[in-house]
Amino acid sequence: MSTIRRLPPLSRRALLTGAAGAATIAVAPRFATPAIAQTSPLKVGLMLPYTGTFAKLGQFIDDGFRLRVEQAGGKLGGRDVTFVQVDDESKPEAATDNMNRLVGREKVDVVVGTVHSGVAMAMVKVARDSGTLLIIPNAGANDATGPACAPNIFRTSFSNWQTTFPMGKVMADAGIKNVVTITWKYTAGAEMVGAFAENFTRNGGKIVEDLTLPFPQVEFQALITRIAQLKPDAVFSFFAGGGAVKFVKDYAAAGLNKTIPLYGAGFLTDGTIEAQGEAANGIKTTLHYADNLDNPANVAFLKAFKAKTQKDGDIYAVQGFDAAALLDIGLGAVKGDAGARDTMIKAMAAAKIDSPRGPLSFNKAHNPIQNIYLREVKNGRNEMVSIAQAAVDDPARGCKMT
Ligand code: PHB
Repeated sequence: MSTIRRLPPLSRRALLTGAAGAATIAVAPRFATPAIAQTSPLKVGLMLPYTGTFAKLGQFIDDGFRLRVEQAGGKLGGRDVTFVQVDDESKPEAATDNMNRLVGREKVDVVVGTVHSGVAMAMVKVARDSGTLLIIPNAGANDATGPACAPNIFRTSFSNWQTTFPMGKVMADAGIKNVVTITWKYTAGAEMVGAFAENFTRNGGKIVEDLTLPFPQVEFQALITRIAQLKPDAVFSFFAGGGAVKFVKDYAAAGLNKTIPLYGAGFLTDGTIEAQGEAANGIKTTLHYADNLDNPANVAFLKAFKAKTQKDGDIYAVQGFDAAALLDIGLGAVKGDAGARDTMIKAMAAAKIDSPRGPLSFNKAHNPIQNIYLREVKNGRNEMVSIAQAAVDDPARGCKMT
């Protein structure tokens, strides 16, 4: 059985003064044993965007997580689950207070979140300081499993480097020489474009110009005009959620999809493809998932997700699903006793998950080791073309586990 409680948004005053949770966090000991006995429900804090440009992404992570809990009879590691939800609105400036509420006031056993890299890094800091178990089900900020890595922090998604590095070689091998990049000016955009450029230039390609606009703005017109003037061989982009829908539609409306092929990180067309319609046809992306992966885990997952939500599953739902699977493995190893932290973490670090995305295991920084697929939008689906790079392992630069 599981129950849900949704926290109201922080008051404006609490946000401005930073008052919420500030006192409680200071007294939270590292690797605290939750005050609640292990027979009580496990308290899971879901800190996700339920509004804003990433709202749909957050909801799908939430849906995927709950589906996996449901499949285990409403339990994780044999323990009932209760949820506390916080809408982080993809706002880094509110992230520390939101996380402190879950950790300090709500005393959750584990936090699952979030989508936005900037919000996630604030969560990582609180998780490191308080010892709270944190599972990141999307945000790719390289530092979370780099210099800021910690035993109690896991990621069931990707590092920003991981998803786009393989695309550099794919595009160079396709004979593409000159590329314009376009993205939002924040951590995820910079790191995804950076990893692509690293591998593209290493393989002989040239970046003609890097175009950016502030997150989460969607006034793309001037930048699209600039692309038309520069006439590169191709464009490489990272946008996601509502912003990705608008960018792909604007690009096609300007007619550029007919003359300058659009490539990107797979988030450009995952969870957005239905709203993009015809405008997305032919877009090639790299990601750790494709709709038509025909492994039994994916077939079963898509069927179950559809039955529960009446929606088509996507990468965000998969990442939420796998976050619950990972927690189930950890808690299963300690018979639900989240206080037996070291044993639980060891089991999670050694987990081998038969994920809908394919085989999933974790590197020493707790970042996934996984295949990165080249996909193409065909018939309204992200269809796999090939494995762009198998078992991609983020270099975890700067990670020293303590
Ligand atoms: C991120 O900010 O890390 C991020 C956001 C949305 C995505 C992927 C990465 O789809």
